[in-house]
Amino acid sequence: MKAIEVIELIEEFSPKCLAVFGDNVGVQVGLNLNKKIKKIGMALDPSLEVIEKAKMENIDFLFTHHPILKDPVKNFTGPLYKKLKILTENDIILYSAHTNLDICKNGLNDSLAELFNLKDVKNLYDDGLGRIGNFEGTFNDILKITNENICKNPEIILKKELINKKSIKLAVLSGYGLSQNSIVHVSNLADVYLSGDLTHHSKIIAKELGLTVIDGTHYGTEVYGLKNFFKYLKGILKIPVVSLDF
Ligand SMILES: [Fe+2]
Repeated sequence: MKAIEVIELIEEFSPKCLAVFGDNVGVQVGLNLNKKIKKIGMALDPSLEVIEKAKMENIDFLFTHHPILKDPVKNFTGPLYKKLKILTENDIILYSAHTNLDICKNGLNDSLAELFNLKDVKNLYDDGLGRIGNFEGTFNDILKITNENICKNPEIILKKELINKKSIKLAVLSGYGLSQNSIVHVSNLADVYLSGDLTHHSKIIAKELGLTVIDGTHYGTEVYGLKNFFKYLKGILKIPVVSLDF
C-alpha cells in the first residue's frame, strides 16, 4: 500500500478542511508519497520517545494527533533536530490529523459524546470543536464513566448543588479546553464541562461562575477517541498498525 493511499483513507475519515484556521495538519515530514508502506505507527504526540520507538519498530508511516511544529520555529536544534534526523534518515513519513480529527464525524469529540451517551448533541463551538448534550444520570455517574475510561483521578471543581441533579447538561472537548475563555463560554451553556489542562486561573473562574469542571487531562480526553480511530484504521488497512504512546 502506498503512503498516498493511506493518507486518502485517513482524510476520508478526517478531512483536512475541517481543521481550525492556522492549525498544522497533513504531511509533516516526508518526500515520496508513492513509497510503499509496510507498517504504520500511531501516537498522540510526535515525541522523541515515540519517534525512536517508530525507528526500532521499523515503522515507515507515523500518524500522530499533535503536529510536530506548532509555533514558528527559528532553528532545528536539540530534540527537534534529533526527531527530524531519525525521521529523514529512516525515511519515515510523519502525518498529523489534529483539530480535523477532533472535529470530524466519529472523531475525538464525537467519541466523548458517545461515551456519555449524550442526547440532543450539538457542537460547543461554531468551528466544530467540542460537543454539548443532555446526560441522563447524576454527576457521580459522569464521574464513574470518566474514571473508567478517561482518567482515574481527575481534578474536579464541583458546584455542590449539582450533586442531586438527575439530568445534566454536559459539555465535552478533547484536549486543551479548560482555558479561562472556554470556561466563560461553557458556563452559559452547560452544568458540567469535561476537558483537559485546567490552570490556576481557570479554576478560580470556574468556581466564581458556578461551573462544575472535570479535568480528565489533555491525554485522557484525547486518547479515548484516538483509540477508536486506531481500531478503525486497523480494520480498514491491510498492513499492520501499532500504537506507540497509548
Ligand atoms: Fe491536543
